[in-house]
Amino acid sequence: MDLSVGTPVDATPLVIRQALIAAADAPGYPTTAGTSRLRDSCAGWMQRRLGVTVPPSAILPSIGSKELVANLPTVLGLGAHSHVVVPLAAYPTYAVGAGVLGARVTATDRPEDVSDADLIWINSPGNPTGRVMPADQMRAIVAHARSTGAVVASDECYVELGWDVTPCSVLHPSVVGNDHSGVLALHSLSKRSNFAGYRFGFVAGDPEIVQRMLGIRKHLGMMVPSPVQAAAAAAFDDDDHVAVQRERYFARRKILRTALMDSGFTIDHSEAGLYLWVTRGEPCWETVGWFADRGILVTPGDFYGVAGAHHVRVALTATDEAVASFSDRLSAV
Ligand SMILES: Cc1ncc(COP(=O)(O)O)c(C=O)c1O
Repeated sequence: MDLSVGTPVDATPLVIRQALIAAADAPGYPTTAGTSRLRDSCAGWMQRRLGVTVPPSAILPSIGSKELVANLPTVLGLGAHSHVVVPLAAYPTYAVGAGVLGARVTATDRPEDVSDADLIWINSPGNPTGRVMPADQMRAIVAHARSTGAVVASDECYVELGWDVTPCSVLHPSVVGNDHSGVLALHSLSKRSNFAGYRFGFVAGDPEIVQRMLGIRKHLGMMVPSPVQAAAAAAFDDDDHVAVQRERYFARRKILRTALMDSGFTIDHSEAGLYLWVTRGEPCWETVGWFADRGILVTPGDFYGVAGAHHVRVALTATDEAVASFSDRLSAV
């Protein structure tokens, strides 16, 4: 049972597949900025689901959000002289995207203490911890970044998967008021809509930065294929499939949590997102071995930095059948 990668296993909703097929005749180049239909759908989704108002011109689509994360330092013009701040336990692509440029990378959950950053990554709900950052902490980070000239990039790819807490976007008026300067939010359809194989994400926020990114991206390529743009618009226009998918993950989370706690594990954070952040106080590779003996693959926490050395990450992305057998597997050796 593979609970390591966090790749969706449920079908891509029909409404999305039909939109892809209907747009299959695509002889011409797609535009880098995306169709206005697509940007309207992204903006409409942000308004409806996140309470965030962004003009369509401040939205830029991307092939997947991993690609967006990896290339953001490049597109922002950072280089070997730059300083990028990432969360303490973090999705590795933040550091890799900065590291390939030779930029200095600092891992901390207190970006407010760094005075010379060029780019500050935040990630709420977080991977791997499932932690949700409160709006007042986001507000403090944005205020600090503005006072030091750093850009805040908020990776919000799990924003619709809140369980115990409702996650907030960095662009919400309670964080930034009506001023998006120096702030970007990154979104993805992969988990919300079982869209990971199609590859789609977008960035929204500071209109000047987004327009600058567009100017560069027009020459770097990486335009989103037209059929995927059409499918993405259909996905953002529809919330029904998201409710269904949320129910599936909620039910799986309950079974996995109960079985893990019954087996003596502690679950830290994990109030939102697609993972359980699990420990029993031992080095993570010992826990990985324990699960492997039971035919279960989990991710060692040290993949996400030294802060994860005593945790493993357990994804909610297994089929209902596999999840139903989880408890039996834990008790059988
Ligand atoms: C925190 C975080 N950001 C970004 C991504 C990239 O997702 P995608 O490229 O599928 O949009 C992932 C994928 O797991 C992730 O966990």
